[in-house]
Amino acid sequence: SMAERGGYPHFMLKEIHEQGGVCRSTLKGRISGGSVDLSGELSMDEHTMISFRAVHLIACGTSYYASLIAERIFERWTDLDVKVDIASEYRYRDSKITPDTLVVFVSQSGETADTLAAQRKARACGAYCLAVTNVQGSTLARCCDDVLLLKAGPEIGVAATKTFMGQITALYLLAMYIAKVRGTFPIEQESELIDELLQIPYKIETVLEREHLIEELASKFAFSQNFLYLGRGISFPVALEGALKLKEISYIHAEAYAAGEMKHGPIALIDPNVPVVVVAPKDSLYEKTLSNIQEAKARHAPIIAVGFDGDERLASDADHVLCVPPTLEEFSPFVTVVPLQLFAYHVAKKRGCEIDKPRNLAKSVTVE
Ligand code: AGP
Repeated sequence: SMAERGGYPHFMLKEIHEQGGVCRSTLKGRISGGSVDLSGELSMDEHTMISFRAVHLIACGTSYYASLIAERIFERWTDLDVKVDIASEYRYRDSKITPDTLVVFVSQSGETADTLAAQRKARACGAYCLAVTNVQGSTLARCCDDVLLLKAGPEIGVAATKTFMGQITALYLLAMYIAKVRGTFPIEQESELIDELLQIPYKIETVLEREHLIEELASKFAFSQNFLYLGRGISFPVALEGALKLKEISYIHAEAYAAGEMKHGPIALIDPNVPVVVVAPKDSLYEKTLSNIQEAKARHAPIIAVGFDGDERLASDADHVLCVPPTLEEFSPFVTVVPLQLFAYHVAKKRGCEIDKPRNLAKSVTVE
């Protein structure tokens, strides 16, 4: 009913709008005295954390894209060898899983069959298994050595949105905590990073207030048949997630590429009928992303960019810009993903799709 949906026409829209709160609740009680502290809830002790040599992040779907974002953060803040894989691949391949490997299983439901099977394999290899999940009593939570919960509340829409937000929040906290214990965290930046992390929920809410602009843009492109999504660095997985949202609920073909890969093939797809969505926060790769925008423009593709407020260059290079409040390079996915979720939602709505229960999809994939 409308009441269950909190007055929103769909659970997905309600859940998108809950994301500032999800980020805030997932941070709550985990930062004290200007520093991340998970010692009260994780059973792994300092000795265990120092003994790790590698971290593997294993998941499916949207949880996999959250893991790809976390990969960049683990690389930046820790000295661990970082690897990310799709659970259905990891369970059958020969990657080296050792007792000094931390394997993080990221699953909203904690019931995804492939993720559970990957966990059984890692456990058999003697790895330390940690579940990052939204469901406390889930099979995954019960099978792992340790659990880090997201505080997203139940997610009803089949397309994951607020749990993605909860996952990245929890994974950033985990990376920060392990890095601190291992002594690799950039201490001189700590207060700046923590202060900014605490601002993120408000920045997410600022993006949500701009929904009407995103809806307007969605009406312009609702009947395009193909979309290309591009991003570099930490924005590449954001592009992947944006394209997945569009595919799942609007049934439009959308492909995401690392922007630098365009020249290696996908540029052949570009023409005036293929809108290109570019995730372009002002970060260390910004100039490179702008030159990819130029390449797509030269082939007359309509350019929709997601960028920071006040970015005049982006505004003049792209045909349409969805602006988000500026943040540090590390945290841009928290804000850039939101307009892409809303864009997918409004495109699907304009097309009359069944948003909360898209065809062929189940909320949780409990068979292989
Ligand atoms: C996301 O929108 C999907 N419906 C799907 O990819 C999902 O993220 C995936 O099945 C993983 O589910 P889990 O997080 O419950 O393991």
